[in-house]
Formats: sequence, structure tokens, C-alpha cells
Amino acid sequence: MTLLAHISDLHLDGSERATRRATRVMDYLRALPHPVDALLVTGDIADHGEEAEYEEAAQILTAPYPVLTCPGNHDARLAYRKVLLGEAPEHGPINQAHHIAGTTILMCDSTIPGRDEGRLDAQTLAWIDTTLTALPQDTPALIAFHQPPVELHHPLPDSCMLEEPGQLADLITAHPQVAAVLTGHAHTAAASTFAARPLVVGPAVTWTLRMPWEGDQAADRDQPPGLAFHILDDDRRLTTHYRVVL
Ligand SMILES: [Fe+2]
Ligand SMILES: [Fe+2]
Repeated sequence: MTLLAHISDLHLDGSERATRRATRVMDYLRALPHPVDALLVTGDIADHGEEAEYEEAAQILTAPYPVLTCPGNHDARLAYRKVLLGEAPEHGPINQAHHIAGTTILMCDSTIPGRDEGRLDAQTLAWIDTTLTALPQDTPALIAFHQPPVELHHPLPDSCMLEEPGQLADLITAHPQVAAVLTGHAHTAAASTFAARPLVVGPAVTWTLRMPWEGDQAADRDQPPGLAFHILDDDRRLTTHYRVVL
């Protein structure tokens, strides 16, 4: 069994509001009497992709277990690499595989620099295929990235979702050990399916998407920050529990 916490879309911008909300979520997670196996952060960590925003993220996103991140459309690869990963400047996608409590978690870069839409480029798709092919058949895998690959029925996220998701769907179909797909970006706790697997969208720390039947303004800034707990059990079934942090 693997127990994961999942947060997304912190949009750290140096404001007191963004800092307070992210700190509140991390204080809640660190105070849990039983630690999770890892924390996933599915992008839009910084609001403007600036080094100072990542320096704050590095201070806030600390936990006594691994913190796994991937970039979102508000992130910038060079500053992200330099501050969060301690890596040399490189413009290519930031893809990382982590082995956590018997599960392999692929944190993928679905960003297109300068655009809000997402796409898994050829390099990333090849990396996903190679990584999954190298896994023992009995090792479950989770794939995480920023932009959801399906419509969520709100015009804002649906206007900048993951483009050309077909190749990823083919890859997942070819690799039965992929138990689920996890994303962020939509700022709403949502559940759907993709390639016959669960697709779970982590809620945002910054603001919550107001659905069309809830009102006209997309950004509800009065909602508290949210998070998800994912349990991947020995039958490769993913169960998610959502929380808000007041
Ligand atoms: Fe976002
Ligand atoms: Fe985003």
C-alpha cells in the first residue's frame, strides 16, 4: 500500500496570501500523527516562474518524506531547475521517476514554455515508455503532470488542457501497471477517467474554480486551500480522500 498526499497550484508570488495558504497546508501535513509516504505537487508552484518564488517554495515545501514536483504553465524550467533541483540550466522537459513504497511515480513535464496549454513532447513520451518498460510487471505506477488530458466541463481549464492526449492513452493501454493519472491545473478537486484508468485532479492551494452552475466568476478566492490523499492498495486500486485546510 502506498499513501500519498497531493497538493497543486500554490502560485507563490511573494504575497502574504499565497505564503499563508501554502504554509497552512504544509503545517497540516507535517502535523499528521502518521506520515504519508510522499507528497506530490502537480505544478504552478510559482506564479511567475521567478527564482525568488522558487526560493520561497523550497522553504515551504519541506517534509520528513519525499516531496515530488512537476512544473505547470506558470513555472519556468530554468529557475525551477536551478532552485528546486539544484541543476544546471537546461531547457528540456523536467521528467523524474521516483520509487516510493513499492510504487513508481512518474512526475512528467507537460508544459509548453510560454503557453497555458499542455503537451507531452516526444522526448517525454519516450521517457515514459522507457521507464514503464523497465519496471517489473508487479510494480504499480502512477503518472502525474499538470494539465488534465480530458475536459472537465468548465470553459477555463477546457481551453488550456493537455493537447494531443492520444499517444499517452496508447502508452497507458500498453502498460497495465499504470494504476492512475494525477494532475493539477484546473484548481478544482475532480475525478474522471482517462485510458480506462482513474484520472484524479488535485485541488488548488491558491483559489478554487467556480463551476458554471455556481456562478460567473471563475476564481473563488474564499474557498480554503485543498489537498488530496491517495491510497494505492495491493490490488492497484486508487482511492482518494479530499480535505480542505481552514
Ligand atoms: Fe494554476
Ligand atoms: Fe496551470
